[in-house]
Amino acid sequence: MSCEKAYITTPIYYVNDIAHIGHAYTTIIADTLARYSRMSGLETFFLTGTDEHGQKIEEAAKSRGKTTQTYADEISATFKDLWDDFDISYDKFIRTTDADHMKGVQKAFSTMHKNGDIYKDTYKGHYCISCETFFPSIQLVDDEFCPECGKSTTVVEEESYFFRLSDYQDKLLQYYEDHPDFILPRSKRNEVIRFVEGGLTDLSITRTSFDWGVKLPEEMNDPKHVMYVWLDALMNYVTALGYGTDDANMDLWPARVQLIGKDILRFHAIYWPAFLISLDLPLPKHIAAHGWWTRDGEKMSKSKGNVVNPREVADAYGLDNFRYFMLREVPFGGDGDFSQKALIDRINSDLGNDLGNLLNRLIGMSGKYFEGSVDSVNVAKYYQAELDEVHASLDKLEPLLFEMQIHKYLEELWRPLTVANKAIDMYQPWTLMKEGREEEAMALNGLIAAILAKVSVMLYPVMPAVCTKISNALHFSIDNDSWNALVKERKLLEPFVLEKIDPLFPRIEAPLLEQMEPVDKKPEPKASKKEEGKKETKEEGIALIGIDQFFQTSLKVGTVVQAEEVPKSKKLLLLQVDVGEDAPRQVVAGIKEWYSANDMMNTQVCVVANLKPAKLMGLKSEGMLLAAKDENGLCMIRPEKPKTAGTTIG
Ligand code: MSP
Repeated sequence: MSCEKAYITTPIYYVNDIAHIGHAYTTIIADTLARYSRMSGLETFFLTGTDEHGQKIEEAAKSRGKTTQTYADEISATFKDLWDDFDISYDKFIRTTDADHMKGVQKAFSTMHKNGDIYKDTYKGHYCISCETFFPSIQLVDDEFCPECGKSTTVVEEESYFFRLSDYQDKLLQYYEDHPDFILPRSKRNEVIRFVEGGLTDLSITRTSFDWGVKLPEEMNDPKHVMYVWLDALMNYVTALGYGTDDANMDLWPARVQLIGKDILRFHAIYWPAFLISLDLPLPKHIAAHGWWTRDGEKMSKSKGNVVNPREVADAYGLDNFRYFMLREVPFGGDGDFSQKALIDRINSDLGNDLGNLLNRLIGMSGKYFEGSVDSVNVAKYYQAELDEVHASLDKLEPLLFEMQIHKYLEELWRPLTVANKAIDMYQPWTLMKEGREEEAMALNGLIAAILAKVSVMLYPVMPAVCTKISNALHFSIDNDSWNALVKERKLLEPFVLEKIDPLFPRIEAPLLEQMEPVDKKPEPKASKKEEGKKETKEEGIALIGIDQFFQTSLKVGTVVQAEEVPKSKKLLLLQVDVGEDAPRQVVAGIKEWYSANDMMNTQVCVVANLKPAKLMGLKSEGMLLAAKDENGLCMIRPEKPKTAGTTIG
């Protein structure tokens, strides 16, 4: 067993909002690396937490009428609860409001000051509260707006302490050159190098215009300053190990991998190493920046109401399936799109067809021919070529993981499954049994079980619960011993009797979320003029109509441009729906049990556009939305692809 160390971190999350898929993505990658590190015998420490200081948080608390601390406590707890429910294997959850963290930040400030890296001056410029970042005027859009998030910046002129970042330009460039895999993926490294080559200016690291932050160390004797939130936040990676207090776990530093999103690369690849050099601390081995998640091709935002809630997805589709999807779907560093369709495809295809089905086949084969028993004794005698192919794939995996090529790791891990499925098709256990070649058939059983075992060990860091089920069925446990035996030493399984287990990945036929429902109380008056005298034919209780009657109903594609709840109503939402007319139509829809106002915002619907207006709870409704309802709830009927508002349906 190696005694190497693996300290793995996520960014600490702002407590101005609850966790979304982006936060879950970073955390799940980090959890995967931590689980792998532990399994492979490394001394592992996995840190996550919340970033709680700064103007943004102070304002978020104020707008909700709470004290900043109460508000931070509440939101921080929602992150922690989510990670606990997601069985995230963190070793420490740090909060920047922790007393020892704050002490550590002060210690860092003192040390940088002693080392001559901090001086006092006046800051004049623009500050984006949303990004908690200062911007020189030349970087602003239209002289006012933040180049990162587009929000309006605040003009700031205040006394400030500065960090001599400009002194670090050459040192940083040299470091990037000497450590070409410091920033992963490589494409991101080039961006950073270009930025640093463009010139670094000194960094304002204190603020006087608000209070919610770490005070300067006492010896500075300057109580009106609080630390810039990024200096405070970045230091969490070492204060969590005891930096500035008891140094208890500082032997774990430097980190093996620090995971972040691409939007915060500059802070981690420029400021953070400069701070560390100033503190005489070594730099982390890798800063790994992942891409951005969108939903159904669109940027997620609260105003659009399309933010993916990780808990909702995991509840509906299974946590491990969600983990697999996120890590397999997107090449690390690239942007990813979340859609239920893509998730369902991965579950049905990769997981159901390739992995789940293989286990079913093994259960079937061993049950039918050998009363469930599996013996590997003759596997090498008959299937050495298959074993070699499997081991060749397994050997490639570990480096892929730590180079952050996780999607390739999973792709490569699927090759042994293909080998196994092909072996069954090619050698046909039923033929072997018919021909009396029982030993070969049992060896085939052993081969398939061994492949499933090896794959489940290496898949465990990504899908811990599912792989534990597989290993239980195969009568072994996933740990450092089995990792060594099955993966490193290429051993096979001891004889066992296979447990029958329920299918791991039942096929999913339709989206499980958006069990939204349609409309409401249909306004009673029938829109179309009933044509008296026309004969209606009845078949199985349904009145048949002619095409002309059908076309009396005007059906249109609509886009929901505004959505809100109807006060005091459990069922109704009040929607403004653009159906291609001068002004949107107001529609009162009885769908609140299945859809929130946010769910409906900016979505497309099918509208019955020529109903006589009706009143529901005193509100005029000028249309009806199509929906389908069964015992599982209600869902809206929508165009399969986006269509211009007002497009005729029919
Ligand atoms: N508090 C800072 C980090 C300080 S680390 C010393 C912060 N917090 S954050 O909550 O805004 O973002 C945390 C992480 O979530 C970042 O890595 C960011 O890239 C990631 N994501 C936020 N939205 C995202 C997506 N839509 N998709 C993927 N990740 C995204 O920044």
